[in-house]
Amino acid sequence: MTQTDRVKIFDTTLRDGEQSPGATMTHEEKLEIAQLLDEMGVDIIEAGFPIASEGDFKAVSEIARATQNASICGLARANFKDIDRCWEAVRHARRPRIHTFIGTSPLHRAIPNLDMDQMAQRIHETVTHARNLCEDVQWSPMDATRTEHDYLCRVVEIAIKAGATTINIPDTVGYTAPRESAALIRMLLERVPGADEITFATHCHNDLGMATANSLAAVEAGARQVECTINGLGERAGNTALEEVVMALKVRHDIMPYRTGIDTTKIMNVSRRVATVSGFPVQFNKAIVGKNAFAHESGIHQDGMLKNAETFEIMRPTDVGLNETNLVMGKHSGRAALRAKLRDLGFDLADNQLNDVFVRFKDLADRKKEVFDEDLIALVTQNDASQDHIRLKHLRVICGTDGPQKADIVLEIDGAERSTTATGDGPVDATFNAVKALYPHGATLQVYQVAAVTEGTDAQATVSVRLEEQGRIATGQSADTDTVVASAKAYINAINRLIVRREKSAPGEDTKTVSYRDAG
Ligand code: KIV
Ligand code: ZN
Repeated sequence: MTQTDRVKIFDTTLRDGEQSPGATMTHEEKLEIAQLLDEMGVDIIEAGFPIASEGDFKAVSEIARATQNASICGLARANFKDIDRCWEAVRHARRPRIHTFIGTSPLHRAIPNLDMDQMAQRIHETVTHARNLCEDVQWSPMDATRTEHDYLCRVVEIAIKAGATTINIPDTVGYTAPRESAALIRMLLERVPGADEITFATHCHNDLGMATANSLAAVEAGARQVECTINGLGERAGNTALEEVVMALKVRHDIMPYRTGIDTTKIMNVSRRVATVSGFPVQFNKAIVGKNAFAHESGIHQDGMLKNAETFEIMRPTDVGLNETNLVMGKHSGRAALRAKLRDLGFDLADNQLNDVFVRFKDLADRKKEVFDEDLIALVTQNDASQDHIRLKHLRVICGTDGPQKADIVLEIDGAERSTTATGDGPVDATFNAVKALYPHGATLQVYQVAAVTEGTDAQATVSVRLEEQGRIATGQSADTDTVVASAKAYINAINRLIVRREKSAPGEDTKTVSYRDAG
């Protein structure tokens, strides 16, 4: 196969990204994200790990049926049961792919207790089995960057001979560095018979902050598939961020002459949706998609920017879907202005959604002098409360230097109003205690995070809450100019999501029922 300049983008937000503790998404959210990825031009969507849970299986099968363009891939360990289940889930896709893997480094070989020959035999059998089911088979030697080179060449050759069409080289623990990442791909291309007949992929984790650099180095050495996630979501320090790879290849095409099929103007919208549904906010200074990525604070920078934007900007905000408009939103702005502004921000709302956002916008504009883009985004991305079991009707909190802090609360629970008063160690604790008194539950609070959406003392606060109950995890978010109100709403939002999870899944289902290490 001759080397082309086209690099395929393999998005694993819904599989590797969703593995971040607490990033669990609902079924509907996974379908929505898959559709956004497809519309953005992702080549392959890794939609989940079908054997891991009923929920994963259902999500992968529905995404397989619904997706128009991208290949739909499911993950499977190196055994027939995993591979069969994966095929069941992806088979209805227009372009199905099975991705099977086994840990090949000395540390990983020790776990299933296979010697080198036994593992080689297992790879031959499982890849052959996958290929008998599906034409498009990807194989990964997990922890490839810590696998002995001779053994890596040997097993890659076996996988190619057994029919793998893509060989993915994972840096599972984020250990490699750019020069080594490139040398590994080059070595495989040079030494493995048949290597020029298949596509090499790179899959980098970010433990040393080098994931994107390592992925790009692998591309320069001949890899033609980059595995990545939106916002770099993923276990530990995450994965290569899709937006970084795609924009680096676009902006530095002069030195990295490779193309992707991604419509970059859709990046910001997908990034925001993933941040909202995963409950993992994007760090402010994150490249490309962070709140400050295009902000210029210092006088020198602002002056330069006004004279010529290129002085301090290597790409335009519009390239990634950030549209600047001169529309200033305030309490006199009408519905049409709001619709136009939201469209510029990438949100095309149906009439009923717009009505709902408009009511909340007016309420916010009454309380806040200027309504910034970020405020509007927070309003739009807040969850639809119409289906909720529990709703906040009223909250009054007494706090200050002289305790005890006290919360009076009225909730509507399944249509009936109930009220109580509770004390706590601070206003948020008192509020959460009051909610728990009215709706007793066994969930533990795992994460409570507050961030200001904009500047100033009238800024909205966005609060994220993560709860865990018998292995089920639910996250909730809310924004309000009153931090305690935002906290109460986020907590209630998480409980509402937990109630949905209880209805849909058995205890522990969010905790994957299989381990990656259990290859057998
Ligand atoms: O990081 C990794 O090794 C993986 C494999 C399952 C491909 O995600
Ligand atoms: Zn990974």
